[in-house]
Order: sequence, then C-alpha cells, then structure tokens
Amino acid sequence: MLARVGTWIVGLGAWAMVMSITGSAQYTKKTNVAHRGASAYAPEHTLAAYRLAIEMGADFVEQDLAVTRDGVLICLHDASLERTTNVEQLFPGRVSTQTIEGKTRQAWLANDFTLAEIKTLDAGSWFDKKYAGEKIPTFDEAIALIRGKAGIFPELKTPEIYAGRNVEFEQLVAAALERNGLRGPKADPKTPVILQTFGPSSARTLAQIKIGVPVVLLLGNDEGFKTAADLKAWKGIVQGFGPAKNIVFRNPDFVKWAHAEGMTVTPYTFRSSDVGKTNFRDVSEEMSHYLYRLGVDALFTDNPDRFPRK
Ligand code: G3P
Ligand code: CA
Repeated sequence: MLARVGTWIVGLGAWAMVMSITGSAQYTKKTNVAHRGASAYAPEHTLAAYRLAIEMGADFVEQDLAVTRDGVLICLHDASLERTTNVEQLFPGRVSTQTIEGKTRQAWLANDFTLAEIKTLDAGSWFDKKYAGEKIPTFDEAIALIRGKAGIFPELKTPEIYAGRNVEFEQLVAAALERNGLRGPKADPKTPVILQTFGPSSARTLAQIKIGVPVVLLLGNDEGFKTAADLKAWKGIVQGFGPAKNIVFRNPDFVKWAHAEGMTVTPYTFRSSDVGKTNFRDVSEEMSHYLYRLGVDALFTDNPDRFPRK
C-alpha cells in the first residue's frame, strides 16, 4: 500500500512539473502579442508603439533585443540601424561590411555604437514625420513603460553575431530580468515574461543557465519540424514554439503535436498589410482561423486592436 501511495505521490509531482511548463502556465487565455509594439500604426520598437499596443489591449508587448557596443540591451529588430533610423546621415563614416543572417552588405551594426550614440538617432521619422524624435528604447526603459500593464515577450535577435563577438547575450538578458525583479515563473504576476529566439544554441544556453521564465523557439518557413518527434526533441529545453504561420497552416497537426507534449504554439506574423496575400477577408478573420480553428495559443500581430476575442 505504502509503495502504491509513494508511486502516486511521485506521479503527482511529475504531473505538477508538467503543468508548470504547459500552455496553461504560459498563457491563461488566447493571447494577443503586439509584434514590435502596435507596429502597423507607430514606428516599431519605440515607446510610442509600445504605449499604443497597451492602449489597444495587447496581453504582451514584443521586444526584439540587440546589444550596444557598451553592453546595453536595446529594442531593435534589425542587427543594424539604417532601416529605422537616420544613422546614415549622422554617422556616414561608420558603415562597415557585415554578414548578417547569411547576407553580406554595407551596414551600421548596432553593436558598433554606444548607447549614447544610439540615443542621438531619430527612430520615428522613417515611419511618419509625426513621430520625429522617437528614440530607440533600452530594454529597461521598455520594461518600465510596460510593467504592470502587459507582459513582455523579448526576442534575443541574431544571437550568432554576439556569440562571434564574445558578448554573453543570454547572461545580459538574465541580468536585466533579475535587476527588474522579473526573473522566475511568477516574479511579477502582472508582468509575465516569455523569451523567444531563432537560435537553437541560444535556447539551449537559456535552459542551461536556468533562466526561470518560459522560452519559445522560433521557426522559419524553411526549417524542418515535420514530425511529432522533431517537436518532442525540444521538450524540457523550451516551453513552446513560434512558427512562421504557414508552417501551422500547411500542417495543422503541428499544434496537436506541441500540445501533446505540453508545449505552446505562437505563430507569427499577422498584419493588415498582408491582406490580398492571404485567403482571408481581413486580418481579424485570419487570426480567428488560427486561434479558434487551428487551436494556436497566442499569436504575434502588428494589429493588436484587431485581435478577435471570442
Ligand atoms: O518573434 C516573432 C517574430 O517577430 C519573428 O519575426 O523577424 O519579426 O522578429 P521577426
Ligand atoms: Ca521578433
């Protein structure tokens, strides 16, 4: 009898452990993640875009993270500064030849600039003159704005660049969460944190250092993950997947496979500007299909105001 009770207790413990990494632990409802802030309406990764996302009811606000030359985490999608700032005008001589995500080109790499230099840049005018003077926020500034109002969903962007420069990206993120009282599964219940990365080795490092918050592995369109076993191999390392939306559209079993392993599915990216490229009438209808037909747990959208709550 004692042996049976012992087995039952061990079983219960395992069940509790599984529950702690399931979708229900990461998400309490179908979840609206504002992609780069409310980036359909305001310049991506500015405080204006984050503020608007919160006003529009986003559950989480996404940050893509980069590291400055002096080791500060900033919110920036690209590894380089020229698409979304006036760096080319302010620092014409600082361009260099870089290989970024397999492509070699002339670029103003964020990691070659100090935070003080980056703070001189205009990160709003490229989008609309009315946002002239918006700055690239630090991760700490983003947290200060968002905390208590929504969750944060930072991505460790282009980790291979930092690995090649001996920058300990994962440790910087861990330290930022620690310093802001956000490291740990329920550190601040009003500000849940989920990390994401396209980098398998970055995901493994986050698991090794026991980051203490869920990690989502992002998958590009051309990546494998064609069988249940491909997903299962990541169990215990990451707590969910962030596939390009076509992966789920083409293979609805992807969601079943992930859920069977207690892992979540958060596809990207749903945007009103894609209408005409999809078979859906509008972005709300598209999101509705993924959430309520295909069963994904959450999704990244440039249009958090169009997220369909059932
Ligand atoms: O992180 C989810 C999605 O944002 C991935 O695409 O290029 O917008 O970071 P990207
Ligand atoms: Ca991202």
